[in-house]
Amino acid sequence: MRLLVEDLLVRFGGVRPLDGVTVAFDSGLCGLIGPNGAGKTTLFNVLSGFVRPVSGRVTADGTNLLALPPHRRARWGLRRTFQQEQVVTELSAADNLRLAADHLGGRDAGLLDFCGLDDPRRPAGELTLLERRRLELARALVGTPRIVLLDEPAAGLSDAESRALAEVVVAVPDKFDALVVLIEHDVALVGEVCATTAVLDFGRLITSGPTADVLADERVRAAYLGEGPS
Ligand SMILES: Nc1ncnc2c1ncn2[C@@H]1O[C@H](COP(=O)(O)OP(=O)(O)OP(=O)(O)O)[C@@H](O)[C@H]1O
Ligand SMILES: [Mg+2]
Repeated sequence: MRLLVEDLLVRFGGVRPLDGVTVAFDSGLCGLIGPNGAGKTTLFNVLSGFVRPVSGRVTADGTNLLALPPHRRARWGLRRTFQQEQVVTELSAADNLRLAADHLGGRDAGLLDFCGLDDPRRPAGELTLLERRRLELARALVGTPRIVLLDEPAAGLSDAESRALAEVVVAVPDKFDALVVLIEHDVALVGEVCATTAVLDFGRLITSGPTADVLADERVRAAYLGEGPS
């Protein structure tokens, strides 16, 4: 799976959260990093159809995603999670998942187990933060996911919890034959789990490529790590 974004321009009034972004994500687990307000979530919003770009192209193995309305993209296999939690606290984990599966017309067998949730009957409101993140990941995997966009799934988790969640995330590409794009502020975690990484800053792509090279790039260190060139 190759997700290709070309010349993407998004405007909100005078703001350009994406200002001519061209980037490719190739199969596996890809990182997407950048400072607050860099345009990461906006890129996910364009990919999933919540935001319409002024101009640009998005293709997934040749399919023109921008031509499809959001629900058709979901049926096609585009999945995402949100920075704000989406679980219904009154429903059990299993029912939360069923809701997503009904919506997408997909199956959910074995997903909670795969994501490390062992009691599907508990109300989501009683789950720990890590368990709710596991549930949200499961919701993003119902049916036949082809592209899975994860928007800071580890936000608020401890280092140990982040790694526990990441253990599941790294298994997704092979298990589902899907491309996963992970937005994550913990650069060390990105370095551990993402083979390739793209960096946004002020709506522009700074660089992308093998994660080790990207994280060593002085422009990235300057923009993202708050370090000037040495
Ligand atoms: N609906 C909107 N209307 C106006 N401006 C917006 C809107 N959504 C986002 N922005 C602006 O676009 C820019 C990019 O925001 P975005 O949420 O994509 O950043 P981000 O990289 O996801 O940041 P964070 O790491 O804080 O989640 C910011 O300047 C933000 O204020
Ligand atoms: Mg964001």
